[in-house]
Amino acid sequence: MLKFLLQAENSRSNFRWQLQRVMEREIINNEKQLFSRIIFLYFRKKIILQKILNQFLKKKPVQTSWLILMIGTLLLLFFQKIPHYTIVNELVENTPAKDKKMVNAILRKISESQQLLLQQIAASSDLCLKYAIDQSYIRELKKITVDLEKELAYLDSEPNFQIFPYLPRLSFSDLQSILNQNGIEFRIQKNLESFEVGSLAAVRRKILTKFPAYIQNSSSHLVSRIAAHFFSDQRIFLDVAAAPGSKTIALKSLQPKARIVASDLNFKRLSLLEDFQKRWSLKRVSLMHADALSLPLKDDADYFLIADLSCTSTGTLRKNPDLKSCFPEKEAKKQAELQLKILTALATKFPKKPILYSVCSFLEEETEKVIKGLNSAFNLNFIELDRLIARFGFNYSHKEYGYYLLSSENKNDFFYLTLFSATPR
Ligand SMILES: C[S@@+](CC[C@H](N)C(=O)[O-])C[C@H]1O[C@@H](n2cnc3c(N)ncnc32)[C@H](O)[C@@H]1O
Repeated sequence: MLKFLLQAENSRSNFRWQLQRVMEREIINNEKQLFSRIIFLYFRKKIILQKILNQFLKKKPVQTSWLILMIGTLLLLFFQKIPHYTIVNELVENTPAKDKKMVNAILRKISESQQLLLQQIAASSDLCLKYAIDQSYIRELKKITVDLEKELAYLDSEPNFQIFPYLPRLSFSDLQSILNQNGIEFRIQKNLESFEVGSLAAVRRKILTKFPAYIQNSSSHLVSRIAAHFFSDQRIFLDVAAAPGSKTIALKSLQPKARIVASDLNFKRLSLLEDFQKRWSLKRVSLMHADALSLPLKDDADYFLIADLSCTSTGTLRKNPDLKSCFPEKEAKKQAELQLKILTALATKFPKKPILYSVCSFLEEETEKVIKGLNSAFNLNFIELDRLIARFGFNYSHKEYGYYLLSSENKNDFFYLTLFSATPR
C-alpha cells in the first residue's frame, strides 16, 4: 500500500488507472476489495488526515514517514475492525529508522483520541475539514446552492453506478431477472428506469460482456433523455464528442429510430462505441473520426447537436476523490478555452440549430462563463428545460444561461447543461 501511494502521489496520472493496473498484477483476490477501499478512502479523506497530522507535527517528515502517518491516521479513524495495536505495530515496523519513535508516538496519540477527533471533525465549523474538501470548491458551490452542507455531504459520500438495459434488445424486467440470477444486488431507480449497483467489477464481468446493457451515470442519462425528447423522423443527432458512447447508446435505446452521427477526435475511445454497435447491431448510427473544431459536414440537414465536452470532471468527485484535495484551477481554464472554441465552431457552422452543451463539472469557469463568452459573439436563444429536468426527479439550480444538476434521489454526478440555438450578432 505504501509503495502504491508513493507512486500515486508522485505521478501525474490518474490514481484509478494505476490502481487498476496494480490490482490486476499484484494484489491477490481476497485482498482486492479492502485494498481498493483503503486507497479510495485515503484520497477522499486526505484533507482531514493532513489537517489532523499538522496538529501533531512541528515539521513535515520525509515522504515515506509522512505517508505512513497518513495511512495510520486513516486506519485508526475510519477502519473500526482492524485492531489499533496491529495498525501501529505494522506501520512503525515499515518506518525509516530515524522516524520510528516519532511515528509510534503520534499514532498512539491518535489511537487514544480517536473518538474525540471524530467528534471534533463532525462538529467543526471548518467545512474543508468536516467534508475533506478544498476551499475553492466551497466557493464554487456557494454560487449554485443555498443548502451548502447537504451538497458537501453528498460529494463526500461513496459513488454508485447505474445500469440500463439497451431497450431495443433487452427489457427492464429482463435485466432485473438477469441481475437477480447473477446475484448482483441492486436498487431500482424508478425515475430513469434503471438499476443502481454498488460495485462495478461483477457487473462488468457477469453482465456487460454478455447482455445488451450499459453503465451510465443518471446525469449523463438525462442528456440523452433531453435529446430523445426532441426526436423527429427527419432529425439527425450529431454527437460531436461521442466517445466512449454512453449518450449515443442511451439515445438510441430511448429512440430506436433516431439517426445519429457519433463523432470524436479520439479514435481509440470511438472504437469502444464501435464494439457495442457491432455486437448489438445499432442501426442508423454512423461513426466519424473528426475534430469538432472542423467537422467535415455541411449544414444541410435538420441537425440537433450534442456537445458533451471534455472538462475537469469535478462533478464526479465521488468517483474521483483525488480531485477533492487539489482544485484544478489551471485545468479549468484550459478546458474552458477549448469548450468555447468548439462551441464557437459549432455555432458558426450550424446557425439556428439546437446545441445541447453539457459537462460533468460545476465550476463556473467551464459552465456559465463559457456560455457567457459565446453569448457575446452570438445571439443565443435558450430552450427552457425546467419541466423536463424536474420530471425525471433531478434537483437543479437554474442560472442565467443553464442548469446545474445537484444531489438528488437519482444519485447523480453534478452536471451542467444548457440547450440553445445561436445566430451571429
Ligand atoms: C466527456 S467525453 C464524452 C463522453 C461521451 N459523450 C459519452 O457520453 O460517452 C469528451 C470527449 O470529447 C473528445 N474530444 C476532445 N476534444 C475533441 C475535439 N476537438 N473534437 C472532438 N472530440 C473531442 C474526447 O476524446 C472525449 O471522448
